Amino acid sequence: MNAITRLAAVISLASLLPLHATAAGNGTVEVLHWWTSGGEAAAVQTLKAQVEKDGFTWKDNAVAGGGGAAAMTVLKSRAVAGNPPAAAQIKGPDIQEWGALGLLTELDEVSTANNWDTLLPAKVADIMKYDGHYVAVPVNIHRVNWLWINPQVFEKAGAKVPTTLDELFTAADQLKAAGFQPLAHGGQPWQDSTVFESLVLAMLGPKGYHAAFVDLDENTLTGEPMIKVFQTLQRLGGYMDPNRAGRDWNIAAAEVINGKAGMQIMGDWAKSEWTAAGKVAGKDYQCVAFPGTQGSFTYNIDSLAMFRLKDDNDIKAQNDLAKVALEPQFQTVFNQNKGSLPVRQDMDMSAFDACTQQSAKDFKVAEQGDGLQPSMAHNMASSLAVQGAIFDVVTNFLNDPKADPAKAVKQLNSAIKSAK
Ligand code: GAL
Repeated sequence: MNAITRLAAVISLASLLPLHATAAGNGTVEVLHWWTSGGEAAAVQTLKAQVEKDGFTWKDNAVAGGGGAAAMTVLKSRAVAGNPPAAAQIKGPDIQEWGALGLLTELDEVSTANNWDTLLPAKVADIMKYDGHYVAVPVNIHRVNWLWINPQVFEKAGAKVPTTLDELFTAADQLKAAGFQPLAHGGQPWQDSTVFESLVLAMLGPKGYHAAFVDLDENTLTGEPMIKVFQTLQRLGGYMDPNRAGRDWNIAAAEVINGKAGMQIMGDWAKSEWTAAGKVAGKDYQCVAFPGTQGSFTYNIDSLAMFRLKDDNDIKAQNDLAKVALEPQFQTVFNQNKGSLPVRQDMDMSAFDACTQQSAKDFKVAEQGDGLQPSMAHNMASSLAVQGAIFDVVTNFLNDPKADPAKAVKQLNSAIKSAK
C-alpha cells in the first residue's frame, strides 16, 4: 500500500468514527456557559464531575462575561457556522427563538423517564418546552431582587439594614461618611439594569413591573412613576464608584466581602462568591430583599438548551447531562455553590444556608399572588432585542449624572418600540 492509498484508507476509516469519539468510545458533551467567577466555576465543576463519573467526556466552553452577552455572541456564530455545542445556557423566551430555528433537540425520552413534568413547577416546565417538548433542562432558580450586606462595615458606619428605599439612602450616607464605598457596582449594561429592575419592582410594585417589562405598556414606561424610578437610579448612581466602568460583578462582590464597600445590589449568584470565600450567611454577611420589594421575587432560571447532534455516543452524553442536571444530589451540591434555589420542588432545604432557605420561603409567598416576576435583566421577561434596547437606555442614563429622567423614559419607550 503506497502512502496515498494508506492516507485514503485512514480518511475513510475516520469518516466511519463518531466525530468526538474518546478512546473508550464514550461520547462527549460540549457545554457553553458563562460561569467563570470563582464561585460559579466551582458550581460548574460539580456538573462536570457527575458527567465524567458517568463515563462521558466534558468539553468546557466557558465564555467569560457576566450576564452572558459575550457567550450569546459566540453561540450565534457557532450556530451560523453549523457547529453549535451540545448544550448552551439559553434562558427564558430566547429558548422559543432557538426552538423556532429548528436547532434544538427534543428531550422526550429523558424527560418522560425522569418525570420532569411532576418534578418541575408548571411555570418552569413551560419555559423549557418548545412546541410541547422539552428542549432545555433547568438547573436552578436565582432570585434577582437581593441586597448583599457586610454587617461589620455597617456596624463601623453605625448603619442599619435598610428595608425601605429611604432607609437605603440613609445607610448609604452613613457608609459614605464613614469612608466606605456605599454601593459596590460594576459599570456593565446588565449590572446597571439589574439595579434598574429592582428599583422598578420597589417603586411600581410587581404589577407595574409586569406592565413595564412583560407587557411593555407605553403608559407604564413613560408615566410619572417611571420618571421617579430614573430619578432614584440617578441618585443611587451617586453612591457607586465613578470608576466602575467594565468592572465584573464578582470584583464588586469582593469589595463588599473585603470590607471596602458596604452593599451590593445583585442576584443571588453573588452568594457564590461569599461561599467560595468561606463566609457564612447570616453571620459574615446578610442577604435581604432589595428594599421595598419584600414579598416579591424576580426569578432567573438558568437552563441548558440542547442542540441537535448526529453522533449516537454524543447524544448519549447529552442525555446524561440532561438527566444528571435534575438529580437531587446534583441539585443540592450545585445550588449550594451557585447561590440559587434547587429547581426541583421536592428537595430537603435543610442542607441549604439561611439565605437560600429565605429565598425558598419568599418564592412560595410570591407565587401565591403577583409577586413572582421574570427578571428583565436576566433574559426572562422579553426577547433579547427588547432587553438590549432597555440596557442601552439605562446604561447611557446612568453614565451621565446630568441626564434628564423625563427624557430617559421617552427614549426607553421608543427604543423598546423599535426593538419589538
Ligand atoms: C446571569 C446568570 C447567572 C449568573 C449571572 C452573572 O444571567 O443567570 O447564573 O451567571 O448572570 O454572570
